[in-house]
Amino acid sequence: MYPLRRNRRLRTTDAIRSMVRETVLVPANLMVPLFITEGKQVKEEIASMPGYYRYSLDLLKDEIKLLYRLGLRSVLLFVKVPDHLKDNKGTEALNADGLMQRAIKTVKDSQPEMHVFTDVALDPYSSYGHDGIVENGKIVNDPTVAVLSEMAVSHARAGADFVAPSDMMDGRIFGMRSALEEAGFHDTGIMSYSAKYASAFYGPFRDALDSAPGFGDKKTYQMDPANRLEAIRETLMDIEEGADMVMVKPGLCYLDIVREIKDQVTVPVSVYQVSGEYAMIKAAAEKGWLDHDAVMMEQAIAIKRAGADIIATYFAKDIAKLL
Ligand code: PBG
Repeated sequence: MYPLRRNRRLRTTDAIRSMVRETVLVPANLMVPLFITEGKQVKEEIASMPGYYRYSLDLLKDEIKLLYRLGLRSVLLFVKVPDHLKDNKGTEALNADGLMQRAIKTVKDSQPEMHVFTDVALDPYSSYGHDGIVENGKIVNDPTVAVLSEMAVSHARAGADFVAPSDMMDGRIFGMRSALEEAGFHDTGIMSYSAKYASAFYGPFRDALDSAPGFGDKKTYQMDPANRLEAIRETLMDIEEGADMVMVKPGLCYLDIVREIKDQVTVPVSVYQVSGEYAMIKAAAEKGWLDHDAVMMEQAIAIKRAGADIIATYFAKDIAKLL
């Protein structure tokens, strides 16, 4: 009670503020999403993601070394697949010499200690731009799970440490875990995008990979932003099916969900601060309306405070530099 307690005493200097700080962020908490493309010496800026690039494999090597020097220890790989290799079956996704499989090897050759997570979903490979196989205008669940399970094994075989299914089919975690076990990949982990919302914040990402849905939207598999209990249900089921880590995606609009999930599970929780969240900060900063670094750091610490153990973010490099 005032005046016995004056809370401002704990805020008087930087020393005391940092001593009593409740949430601490370190570079090892951050996961770096990377966009990979075919070609040589390619470093293309993504129009709706200023300061973010697609790299060809030769340049990926140097980028990985740089990230590692900054204290970053994990990357999340996405590939931009040439149109002529797209179909409705995910054929190219299973190609042992495909871009993803080569990217995994490139990262491991460049920096074996870098932990490699790979996106598992069909959208970059799909002629329809959907995360699964399409039949009569519908995304069919079980045939998709079968392909994704093979895809996970193909990534493991190429050297991925973790697969990260982002497709939101039912039963995919069980399918992938079973397939990985059967193929002998007992140590390959699964980071499930367990509570992934059908969000408008993914727009810039779809520009980056040219993977926007050709018809309809993703609402029959990704979650309704209005739902809370469903996020918990999805997450608990994924853990039962064998997920080593779970995820909430996007970040900032869903911090209530992050906290609830953190309170209900005992596996690490990751949060994906997605492309649209990145784009908003960049756009406002470009206009001079917001202080880029201050807003970036505030959002990162807020995500951690809400309950994220791990944050996948396009700001990883910038944050690591400031830490
Ligand atoms: C693909 C996938 C998406 C993202 C990650 N994996 C896009 C989507 O579901 O349409 C979005 C990431 C971002 O916006 O940064 N399944």
